[in-house]
Amino acid sequence: MSINTDIETLGNGKLQIFHGDALEVLQAIPDSSVDLIFVDPPYNIGKDFAGRKDKWDTDEDYLKWCYLWIDLCIKKLKPTGAFYVMTSTQFMPYFDLYIRERMTILSRIVWAYDSSGVQAKRYFGSLYEPILFCVKDKNNYTFNADDIMVEAKTGAKRNLIDYRKNPPQPYKNEKVPGNVWNFCRVRYRMDEYENHPSQKPISLLERIIKASSNEGDIVLDPFCGTFTTGYVAKELGRQFIGIEIQEEYYKIGLRRLGLASEYKEEKLYREQKTYEIKHMSTDVIQTELFANG
Ligand SMILES: C[S@@+](CC[C@H](N)C(=O)[O-])C[C@H]1O[C@@H](n2cnc3c(N)ncnc32)[C@H](O)[C@@H]1O
Repeated sequence: MSINTDIETLGNGKLQIFHGDALEVLQAIPDSSVDLIFVDPPYNIGKDFAGRKDKWDTDEDYLKWCYLWIDLCIKKLKPTGAFYVMTSTQFMPYFDLYIRERMTILSRIVWAYDSSGVQAKRYFGSLYEPILFCVKDKNNYTFNADDIMVEAKTGAKRNLIDYRKNPPQPYKNEKVPGNVWNFCRVRYRMDEYENHPSQKPISLLERIIKASSNEGDIVLDPFCGTFTTGYVAKELGRQFIGIEIQEEYYKIGLRRLGLASEYKEEKLYREQKTYEIKHMSTDVIQTELFANG
């Protein structure tokens, strides 16, 4: 893979992460080489990614930019590869129309979550994010249904018998999940929390990576943020290629993937949470601060 030498990168043979622009790095990845791509791009809704605004001048500008990386992702996927892509509810219809001309969209997934805060008072607040699951070849792709089974409530909770079967049989207590996924969002008090405005939960990536790749396969995420995709890929024995433009988040990736404990002479550590600090004695705080520079 030949890459502009200004782009920083670190890897260990199985995991390779890049500090740079997704469009530039994607171009350097060999065509038809990746098994699974998960894309959670900026949504064009004005979030602040460590000083980089998630907002384009016009909707058309945003979509034009998205179509560039969508085309590149399709090119980099193996013929048997799978592509999962997210964006905001308002832009997903454009993605859907664009991608369905180029790939087969197998599932339109709704990631639903609850919120204790009031979302809206004069309309119905948004409590889901859409995900498209697409493949290049609808007759030849990986889908490990057995690895992602969930409880089938009718069978598991109510012990019903299916009398349509001859002889009648208890309902199964496991099933392949449908396209509405309930995973809670990453909150401050959760162990996996990192300082990022749109971190995706480990549970969400576990389902995607288990379903659509096998051990040793190559997983790619062009907009890594907190590197949840890379972290899960590593835990599940997959190879990983990740890209992130902001140094602050690239450092999270170095630490979370165990690629480095220091960066430019700065020790990499997870920020202490306020409640963790409150529970430490003064001695411990001083030792921690000293140890963390
Ligand atoms: C929605 S977040 C991804 C969150 C991630 N899925 C997670 O679980 O933490 C989008 C990320 O893309 C990064 N980004 C924005 N523009 C980029 C670009 N041109 N190339 C690479 N990364 C970019 C942002 O800094 C941000 O961290």
